[in-house]
Amino acid sequence: MKYKFILFPAITASLLLFSCNNSTNTSSTETIEDEKMSPKYVNDPHSYAEPNQAIVKHLNWNAFVDFENKQIKGTANWDIETSSDASNIVFDIYGLRINSVSVDYNEATFSIGDFDEEMGSPLTIDIPSGAKQVSIEYQTGEQAKALQWLDPSQTAGKKIPFLFTQSQAILARTWIPCQDGPGVRYTYDAEVKVPAGMLALMSADNPQEKNETGIYNFKMEQPIPSYLMALSAGDIIFKPISERTGVYAEPSVLDKAVYEFEDLENMVQAAEGLYGKYAWDRYDIIVLPPSFPFGGMENPRLTFATPTILAGDQSLVSLVAHELAHSWSGNLVTNSTWDDFWLNEGFTVYFEHRIMEALYGRDYSEMLASLAKDGLMHEAHSMMKNVPNDTKLKLDLTGRNPDDGLTSIPYDKGYFFLRNIEEEVGREKFDSFLKNYFETFKFQVMDTERFLDYLKSNLLVEGQADSLGIDNWVYEQGIPKNIPEVKSDRFVLVDAELEGFMSSGNLPAKETTDKWTTHEWLHFINHLPEGIGQKKLATLDAAYGFTQSGNSEISAAWFQPTIRNNYEAVYPKVEDFLINVGRRKFLTPTYKALIESGKKDMAISIYEKARPNYHAVARDTMDELLKS
Ligand code: BES
Ligand code: ZN
Repeated sequence: MKYKFILFPAITASLLLFSCNNSTNTSSTETIEDEKMSPKYVNDPHSYAEPNQAIVKHLNWNAFVDFENKQIKGTANWDIETSSDASNIVFDIYGLRINSVSVDYNEATFSIGDFDEEMGSPLTIDIPSGAKQVSIEYQTGEQAKALQWLDPSQTAGKKIPFLFTQSQAILARTWIPCQDGPGVRYTYDAEVKVPAGMLALMSADNPQEKNETGIYNFKMEQPIPSYLMALSAGDIIFKPISERTGVYAEPSVLDKAVYEFEDLENMVQAAEGLYGKYAWDRYDIIVLPPSFPFGGMENPRLTFATPTILAGDQSLVSLVAHELAHSWSGNLVTNSTWDDFWLNEGFTVYFEHRIMEALYGRDYSEMLASLAKDGLMHEAHSMMKNVPNDTKLKLDLTGRNPDDGLTSIPYDKGYFFLRNIEEEVGREKFDSFLKNYFETFKFQVMDTERFLDYLKSNLLVEGQADSLGIDNWVYEQGIPKNIPEVKSDRFVLVDAELEGFMSSGNLPAKETTDKWTTHEWLHFINHLPEGIGQKKLATLDAAYGFTQSGNSEISAAWFQPTIRNNYEAVYPKVEDFLINVGRRKFLTPTYKALIESGKKDMAISIYEKARPNYHAVARDTMDELLKS
């Protein structure tokens, strides 16, 4: 009813558009009418939005970050485009309280559909034909899973609270009403108010210094999907590494981080040398408090990273190469839905290894590849028993949490699939193919089928798709027999030393192990025989101090044989680690080891203390793992 007034001109506009339908005339009141014959946007099973009807183009976000109530109060002003017959626009929301909605500055009617535990609810806003703008005033609910509010005690500085978000895969809707699928891209600008004394940062152009007001402004001029929306606020300071790269962290962490990421500019240059110009202007990293549930998150212009990669010796920086690589694979060319997640992660692992090879040599990157292959074979083997279909590259996550797809399959099976192609066609051809791929499809979505078509018509010659077993790799279960060989001479030496130790009890010579890096130690620990026994573990611990290691990867690897062999000397360290670190990749196998070795009581009692420190995504996984 209330649209009577503006309906008339809107209809006229769309009739006009109809009448010049066949001309090339692109009117300023452009609609998405032309795409109606073959819908432009795929149906995303994890979003309620109907972008073929009405789609967002730009977000102007105003937010007040209320640390006292652990809540964000915001207004999302969306510029939209509609098809001429659209009578509403649908957003995804999860637990948001919607206070008011207006369309083209007039109050509008809306409805909120049924709540689904994984998906949240559709927010359907009535719009007149030709509507241009939707404003949603809202506040986040208690269930805002993307947000982790840290008390001062959970930060490095212990004085000021901290907030960070984790939107991937479908959690952006818990803090912003949005069309929350990777197929919808938009630009944004934002004004965010945080308590004075804090710095706020987003996946956008960022301030480098605090100001007195606590009000910060942001702009992201390239269109991005909602899963790349990110915000962080706390006692954060900045140091540059090069003109276009730098590090943000809490003051007591910053110098360590700057040292660790010394090679950041070199990494960006290596990446550009491989697959073309970096498209996002600056590349910075923020080191978050240890409860960050992932190793890293490729938020554009500002990677979010766990402090557990600050090993003190730059040995875990392949994670930075990985997140940087997403600036091409993922952020420029984006998986169409989460079923095509391997297009984001498999390409990124491949690219990551290439960056590491360019910087540190082939024998370094072959160690990474070998560790990845071991992990993949192990995980694929156990998945074949429970979730065999999830070992396909092309996933079917309809009706499930997209988190279920987060296994080593999209990452490392994806990596070896691409490496297989590289080895078949030769590196030179493969590199120029990839460079064209990123250039051709930048700021677009990609699905598996479209990629395979592109691959077949631009790289492979007759018969190659079959000889590579492409369909087998992509659409069948398990790990194909033609998985590439990994040749790590450095690991061959480690194997020999390990064998010597197991058969004779002699430790490797000090001159030998002095040269070993984190990766050799990881290989060594991962290959300790299952029933090695406490005595040998104690000998190794006395010689190499694994229990006291300050390297998170070594600690987590060491927890496996020690927990499973009831080597009690490690227990206090395990408890301390599980309470202080929230990185899910470490938590899951460690809790599993406790459970599978008959120590579920211990796991539960540690979890009771640790749980308040975990982000919702880690909590959800551990709740499931530890439920009785
Ligand atoms: N984009 C992922 C993290 C992610 C994926 C979060 C899916 C939520 C849903 C990120 O790039 C990533 O892969 N991180 C890895 C590190 C990497 C070196 C394998 C991680 O966090 O362990
Ligand atoms: Zn990744």
